[in-house]
Amino acid sequence: MSAFNEERVLSVHHWTDRLFTFKTTREQSLRFSNGHFTMIGLRINGKPLLRAYSIVSANYEEHLEFLSIKVPEGPLTSRLQHIKEGDMIIVGRKPTGTLLIDYLLPGKRLFLLSTGTGLAPFMSIVRDPATYEKFEQIVLVHGVRQKDELAYHDLLVEHLPAHEFLGDMVTSQLRYYPTVTREAYRNMGRVTDLIQTGKMFEELGLPPLDHAHDRVMICGSPAMLRDLKHMLEHQGFAEGNTSTPGDFVIERAFAEQ
Ligand code: A2P
Repeated sequence: MSAFNEERVLSVHHWTDRLFTFKTTREQSLRFSNGHFTMIGLRINGKPLLRAYSIVSANYEEHLEFLSIKVPEGPLTSRLQHIKEGDMIIVGRKPTGTLLIDYLLPGKRLFLLSTGTGLAPFMSIVRDPATYEKFEQIVLVHGVRQKDELAYHDLLVEHLPAHEFLGDMVTSQLRYYPTVTREAYRNMGRVTDLIQTGKMFEELGLPPLDHAHDRVMICGSPAMLRDLKHMLEHQGFAEGNTSTPGDFVIERAFAEQ
């Protein structure tokens, strides 16, 4: 059996000239956990060209959804950004990754810290009822350069709280904190600075991070991962992985490519 499925693009949405999302069909046999990534890409001259992408859609949905940057010279994204409804893409049959609530020790609050397309795995995690069963409160933080890069803002603020099945959990347990660094916005600054100065906690009206009962997932640029990992370890948080659960987990798949 091939390591890949061929999936048809159902829709494409361009958030900005640097950022887009697309939905595809989903082979029924594809199984994944919320927070997983898989290899996706295109056939170029018959050869698969693939990159790791977190799955935005929840694992109970019929379609797959992905969030991507557009890099003008990027081998894959310079082509992928032009896909249209009806085009075919390749999707790896073995989703994997470390951003699973199973790899975190029990706790009270779950902080999902993201920058840029690092939001992607958290979109499936905040649509998973198991997340709300394991944690009393979930704080989703998304840092971007410009406010139009706040992908899924309206879904998080308007549609999820009104969702037929998730709405009550989202309304009572999920806090969303979008922050912008390069133009005026109601919350401004890097995720790292907002945590270190305590500004984010003040604005949310929440106590600061405490490893005794807070758990953290981090997904973003290599520099952001490095800085937040140092900060958390300095505060006594222990990193978890697929074999040993911890106080925080990081997705390194994207950082290494
Ligand atoms: P900044 O505008 O100060 O660089 P990018 O689009 O480059 O991936 O950046 C997404 C967001 O992540 C931007 O707001 C950027 O802030 C922020 N960022 C970049 N590096 C770090 C870091 N080391 N720690 C926290 N946030 C970062």
